[in-house]
Amino acid sequence: MNSVSDITAKIASGHLRVGIIGLGYVGLPTAIGFHDAGFEVWGVDVSQRTVDMVKAGKNPTGDPDVDDIMPAPGTPNWHITNSAAEAVPHCDVILVTVPTPITHDLKPDLSYVAGAGRDVFQAISKGSRTIVVLESTVYPGVTAQTWHPIIEELGLVIGEDLEIAYCPERFNPGDSAHGVRQVARVIGCENPEIGEELVQLYSKLTTEDVRYVGKLEVAEAAKVIENVQRDINIALVNELARIFPALDVDVEDVLSAAATKWNFHRYTPGVGVGGHCIPVDPYYMIQRAADVGIPAELITAARAVNRNMPVHVAEVIRKLMSKHGVEANDARVLLLGWSYKAEVGDPRETPAAPLSETLLANGVKVSAWDPHLEPGQFPQGIDVVEDISSAQGYDIAILVTAHKACLEIDFTKLVSNMRTPLLYDGRRVLNLDELTGAGWICHAVGRPNGL
Ligand SMILES: NC(=O)c1ccc[n+]([C@@H]2O[C@H](COP(=O)([O-])OP(=O)(O)OC[C@H]3O[C@@H](n4cnc5c(N)ncnc54)[C@H](O)[C@@H]3O)[C@@H](O)[C@H]2O)c1
Repeated sequence: MNSVSDITAKIASGHLRVGIIGLGYVGLPTAIGFHDAGFEVWGVDVSQRTVDMVKAGKNPTGDPDVDDIMPAPGTPNWHITNSAAEAVPHCDVILVTVPTPITHDLKPDLSYVAGAGRDVFQAISKGSRTIVVLESTVYPGVTAQTWHPIIEELGLVIGEDLEIAYCPERFNPGDSAHGVRQVARVIGCENPEIGEELVQLYSKLTTEDVRYVGKLEVAEAAKVIENVQRDINIALVNELARIFPALDVDVEDVLSAAATKWNFHRYTPGVGVGGHCIPVDPYYMIQRAADVGIPAELITAARAVNRNMPVHVAEVIRKLMSKHGVEANDARVLLLGWSYKAEVGDPRETPAAPLSETLLANGVKVSAWDPHLEPGQFPQGIDVVEDISSAQGYDIAILVTAHKACLEIDFTKLVSNMRTPLLYDGRRVLNLDELTGAGWICHAVGRPNGL
């Protein structure tokens, strides 16, 4: 059995063995981070493609920051497998970084957390006191509610055979200043001694503050409200981006003016929020509030505003084209970018999908160019443009993702290849005066459009 002092000694000497279950956007850089910090690492993923790529030293995620740090095949103390049963007996601490999506009816889907937990607990030797830490984003209560019944069913005892803890991941893929080795961490655990052990362990991973915050639910709740707050702030500027054009005022002018006050927080409106976190995590909080009979009205309203934004933009686009004599059933739209955020090849929950679906439902033909994605990552019905310099015959170009590559395209050449020279800046990052001078008819989210 690992006593607390054993764990402390192993952390200090670098002899602690860390297992990571789920080698995706979060798990893979975390595994690499602990390996770089000097620990023996066992990485596990159920996807054979992921296991094969990681073993071959290739990055299976769309996060370009991981490309250059992939351990080469044969790197000492770096073990990759698709079997938790093989990895777990070698590990002192196991970190679980599996998906926490939502179902079609917007409810938390905890099947991965339960499945990965079961895989790990089945492989834990009695008396080993292996520490299992959930890192996936969840609502307060999930770690205990999901894992305790499995632990009991398998006849394991917390405090003797294993310990459980929660430490949310907060890093930002595609943002090298906020990688896994640079973000502050919070740890929740019913056993304060284990909490403090984990503070020592995570302090080897990150240069930022690592704090034991008490019970599991505090750390679980902290993570989910971070993203709830972001969703609400973005929803506010998205709502303002609908109000101010109707008052013939550009929302960006208003936000920039307001931001001269010391305590105003500047957010930028856009075609919608995407990814695995902001559009998903608030539903976890909404569910938990409903469980205890408290209405989460603000969180729910913010979600509705952001969720509706791509549909609203699609309607604006349809009207703009119509104003310029292009009817929907004859229209050709070019999306610049498809990923949910800049510099990352990640199409999960991208607002480009509902934007396109709404346009397609109106009979519009939709093409998209995104140099960060492979053609197979776009949904059916989207015409994938592989070479932007040959794009022609479109009625409107919509900037969906502010990839550097999208901002640097030859807009002078593109406007000469358009059938109608309409441009819509869905991220408020383009120099619209310059582009107007180059022949574009420019529109943007939150800008008066004369409709
Ligand atoms: N991506 C982000 O920016 C980010 C940031 C902070 C937190 N999170 C949270 O972290 C968690 C993971 O997100 P992600 O983006 O890394 O997801 P992901 O889909 O990129 O990766 C999850 C990996 O887990 C694997 N997996 C699923 N079940 C498994 C099992 N039983 N055993 C082993 N592997 C299994 C999948 O094959 C996949 O490779 C989520 O809860 C997410 O909300 C994500």
